[in-house]
Amino acid sequence: MRRVVEVTNIKKSFGKLRVLDKVDFYVKEGDFKVIIGENGSGKSTLLKIMVGLLLPDEGEVNVLGIDVKKQWKKLSAKIGVVLANERSLYWKLTAWENLDIFGGIYGVPKKERRKRMKELLERFGLFEYKDKPVEDFSTGMRKKLMVCKALIHNPKILFVDEILNGLDPSSTREMVEYLSELNEKGLTVVMISHVLHILPESADVALLRNGQIQMEVKYKDIRSKRREIYEVFEKLIKVGEVDEKDILFSREGYEDKA
Ligand SMILES: Nc1ncnc2c1ncn2[C@@H]1O[C@H](COP(=O)(O)OP(=O)(O)OP(=O)(O)O)[C@@H](O)[C@H]1O
Ligand SMILES: [Mg+2]
Repeated sequence: MRRVVEVTNIKKSFGKLRVLDKVDFYVKEGDFKVIIGENGSGKSTLLKIMVGLLLPDEGEVNVLGIDVKKQWKKLSAKIGVVLANERSLYWKLTAWENLDIFGGIYGVPKKERRKRMKELLERFGLFEYKDKPVEDFSTGMRKKLMVCKALIHNPKILFVDEILNGLDPSSTREMVEYLSELNEKGLTVVMISHVLHILPESADVALLRNGQIQMEVKYKDIRSKRREIYEVFEKLIKVGEVDEKDILFSREGYEDKA
């Protein structure tokens, strides 16, 4: 499979703070990649660099053959992005109107747009709420709608930052199911997450620490005895040691900060 994301030797500082220090990271077509790391480790910074929202100080970023540093405008038609705690939906407008507007902005022709809007809303269990204003939606419904919005133009890669934050256990499971189903159908997914207890078995988990991608493991191997990765993961959420309810509870702190 070809590499659809290639990040090489990325450095990024904010003032004196070196956040990313020679990051090398790649994603192959069809991958489901999850980037994990402690708060402030630079996950969102890396994601923003990959999608062209931030410029690195040094290094190369290539996504779908596009040099992101130079041609980021070209990229938006080919990727879907959900940022952490994004507020980009129009709250007074309905779900349907929101998708219609964003589909229009992406230049999806009306007929195709309507078809896709219906399909996405149905798939995410939102079709019956399509005429409700987004301000009446629950957190979970809004997150689902943000994913619909990010997929309206049928992108090749979906980048999502902390989409599982604030979801209850059943919505978390649902969201992961939707994403893994889309992934099985060919969508490449790059996700930032703190929720490790439920991810697709096929996911590759990349650990960002001390400014670098230090390690990448198959999700199914995370509970293995590799001490370094286990220790960091254990700090974030106690893998396999607490039940779902407690894991979500222990994550409350992240919500406020993100
Ligand atoms: N625009 C900015 N200006 C200054 N500092 C920033 C900026 N964006 C991020 N930082 C700093 O860079 C570091 C990494 O931030 P980033 O948001 O990438 O971390 P993160 O891994 O996504 O954290 P979290 O798990 O809390 O979401 C933090 O110390 C943050 O305060
Ligand atoms: Mg972040």
